[in-house]
Amino acid sequence: MSSKRTYFLAPLAGYSDLPFRRSCRRFGLVYAHTPLLDAGALLHHHSENQEILVRGDDEPWLAVQLMGCRLDDLRQAAGILNELPFDGLDFNMGCPVRKVIQRHAGAALLKTRELALDCVRALRDVVKKPLTVKTRILCENDPEPTVRFCLALQACGIDGLTLHGRLPQRIYAGPVAMDVIKAVREALRIPVTANGGIFTAADADALAAGSGCERLMVARGAIGNPWLFRELIQGIPAVPTHAELCDMLLQQVTGMVELYGETRAFLAGRKIILSYLCGRGYRRRLRAQMSTVKTMPEFLELFRQIEKEGPLAVTDGLGVVHDGTDCGSNAETSADIAGGADL
Ligand SMILES: Cc1cc2nc3c(=O)[nH]c(=O)nc-3n(C[C@H](O)[C@H](O)[C@H](O)COP(=O)(O)O)c2cc1C
Repeated sequence: MSSKRTYFLAPLAGYSDLPFRRSCRRFGLVYAHTPLLDAGALLHHHSENQEILVRGDDEPWLAVQLMGCRLDDLRQAAGILNELPFDGLDFNMGCPVRKVIQRHAGAALLKTRELALDCVRALRDVVKKPLTVKTRILCENDPEPTVRFCLALQACGIDGLTLHGRLPQRIYAGPVAMDVIKAVREALRIPVTANGGIFTAADADALAAGSGCERLMVARGAIGNPWLFRELIQGIPAVPTHAELCDMLLQQVTGMVELYGETRAFLAGRKIILSYLCGRGYRRRLRAQMSTVKTMPEFLELFRQIEKEGPLAVTDGLGVVHDGTDCGSNAETSADIAGGADL
């Protein structure tokens, strides 16, 4: 653990909403991002954006993430966001999801870099708060193209940069090119945050050492595991007791029902419930039933069974279960994300 470290919760579409952020904040998270918000959709008052804009009175720091590529939309959206209680605005230049790429936004901007820089300049003209960009590396073997592009972003007047050390085509798989992040960190004078592959405190130490960054962004590692912030910040292992897990699950689901209403909460929230239960020894039958739950009474009935029964197997010191209740990673698969499953 380093006292100089600052941890950020990444923007996570379908996850980093108020109930999830509150779960992470219980373990010391201060700096968080909303999921990405489409500038055009914000201007057309699409109702699904309303919840992205909800900030809790208890939240110490929250930046909103904006995506888009039309300069007028970005300017107008930034004007609206200036008036809302966010501590910063982050511009998405790394999302590889098909739906976003088709709109020439997110990682598509890495192929139209002049447009990308115009977007950032347009935002800089309007945004009254700290403006940051979250992007990806451009080449794994040679830092030079990424450094050049990031210097150009800095010249547009941004206040900080987050660099995910994977190429867009890798989606979320494979190693993180820490040396490329390091070269960017050394070339820029604005703060650089390193992102990619933090699932444990050891991962965070490795990313800090390899990238030279003390600002680290956590993404999939926190899904179903807000205790990761406890491990990162306080050095207490991210292995919740059964009681802690039940408490957290109930709190988050209750928060989701309050925010989205019952129908939408369970439609979007089943994957979140499963992310808490997967890999921790809970009976497969109960998990399968949870995956179709539609109402709070249905949820509570299953929840009480889980609460009473507890996990079948004891996890080892690393939180890994050896009871055959396999369910893959807590995080989304690359295929899900590439197919735009959640956006
Ligand atoms: C389900 C999911 C949703 C995501 N949503 C966003 C998003 O809204 N904005 C963004 O910039 N990145 C988004 N990302 C990317 C993450 O913020 C992060 O850059 C990526 O997962 C790499 O970090 P990791 O290896 O620690 O997970 C998303 C990733 C996942 C898995």
